Amino acid sequence: MKIYKNISTLYTFKGFAKKMGRNPVDQDFRPIKKAAMIVGKNGLIEWVGKEESLLAQVQKKGGLLGARVIDLEGLNVFPSFTESHTHLVFAGNRKKEFDLKIKGATYQQIAKMGGGISSTVRETKKASFEELLASSRLRIKRFKEQGVGLVEVKSGYGGDFKTEKKILEVAFSLKGIDVKPTYLALHAIPKKVEKEEYVNRVINIDLPKMKKKFPKLSRADLFIERGYFSKQDLKRFKAQAENLNLDLCAHVDQLSGLSGAITAAHLGALSVEHAVFLKPQEIRSLAKTETVINLLPGADFYLKTKYPEARKLIDAGCRVSIATDFNPGSSPTQDLSFIGVLARREMKMSLAEVWCAYTLNASLALGVKNKGSLQKGYKASFFTTKAKAEDFFYEVGNHPVEKLYS
Ligand code: NIG
Ligand code: FE
Repeated sequence: MKIYKNISTLYTFKGFAKKMGRNPVDQDFRPIKKAAMIVGKNGLIEWVGKEESLLAQVQKKGGLLGARVIDLEGLNVFPSFTESHTHLVFAGNRKKEFDLKIKGATYQQIAKMGGGISSTVRETKKASFEELLASSRLRIKRFKEQGVGLVEVKSGYGGDFKTEKKILEVAFSLKGIDVKPTYLALHAIPKKVEKEEYVNRVINIDLPKMKKKFPKLSRADLFIERGYFSKQDLKRFKAQAENLNLDLCAHVDQLSGLSGAITAAHLGALSVEHAVFLKPQEIRSLAKTETVINLLPGADFYLKTKYPEARKLIDAGCRVSIATDFNPGSSPTQDLSFIGVLARREMKMSLAEVWCAYTLNASLALGVKNKGSLQKGYKASFFTTKAKAEDFFYEVGNHPVEKLYS
């Protein structure tokens, strides 16, 4: 048993949890002043409340014997962040491409010139496991320093089974915070490969082979877009994912509106990613599903496209999460403060909506139902800070986290 005491204000986020992440408001922070928390051996919270009630609670549990008491020195406590969409295992960079973008080239034009996803695939194929592990560890550390307790890590820069396996091996080797590896199996069509043949191979052979290689693999992803993969591919992909007990998420409606989000949601996707180009009817339908809409404003910023309609999605009752989409091309940033500021400034999200999106809803996007709120039964994954809720997501680059406990 662990006892955390001397907490100035503990933001429980109980209100967000109660509504399972729909329609968040400021009152949902549910702060407790002069708080304490009891955590069981399994890492789950047993009690949260006022420190003045701590003694009675400890006595109820049979006294202090064997308990570790941790003094949080008058700091505030928040649930840790969940970074629910990253492509953090990659080699090389796309600095030249950034320059081309500034000069007006589009995502698809860059891809035609040999840039884009396939250029990172080339670099990642060449890199050794050790090189990828070393760079990925640094990237994980950067998230940890920002109070991230759970991070999703996609493959997708492999282009062939062998390299995808190498990337997932890296993802499964990462430590320090909780990592959810995702097999982004259909990301781009490799050069000189016929599309149908590639899709058939990935769905029929690679997906089952990868699950066999990594029994702990629980997620699969694909990119639905013109020039990439179709809704038909999505349906077949989902059927195989289901056979293999893999949760589905999908990059959808990022550059054009192909009704990918609603199709994936109706197929039971845990989350749909980007969701920039949605029709009003699709937003209404998405609100009736459990699927989390994972918005990635870093990519919209770097690609200089439209931002998703967060206001309409949240007001309709959708669960909305946000993430960096950290990757070397469309979103070369790991900065949570930047993403939160974009969400507020460009997507008109309130502060409470941003907090909920980056904690509880981001965890739900990964299928983790007991993270993002500090209350009985939830994971004791939190960080300390001198700051208050409103001190975050205001100044880009200022993200005042002291220490992560996760
Ligand atoms: O989330 N949309 C497809 N995949 C990534 C981009 C990856 C890349 O450009 O390297 C995304 O934006
Ligand atoms: Fe992505």
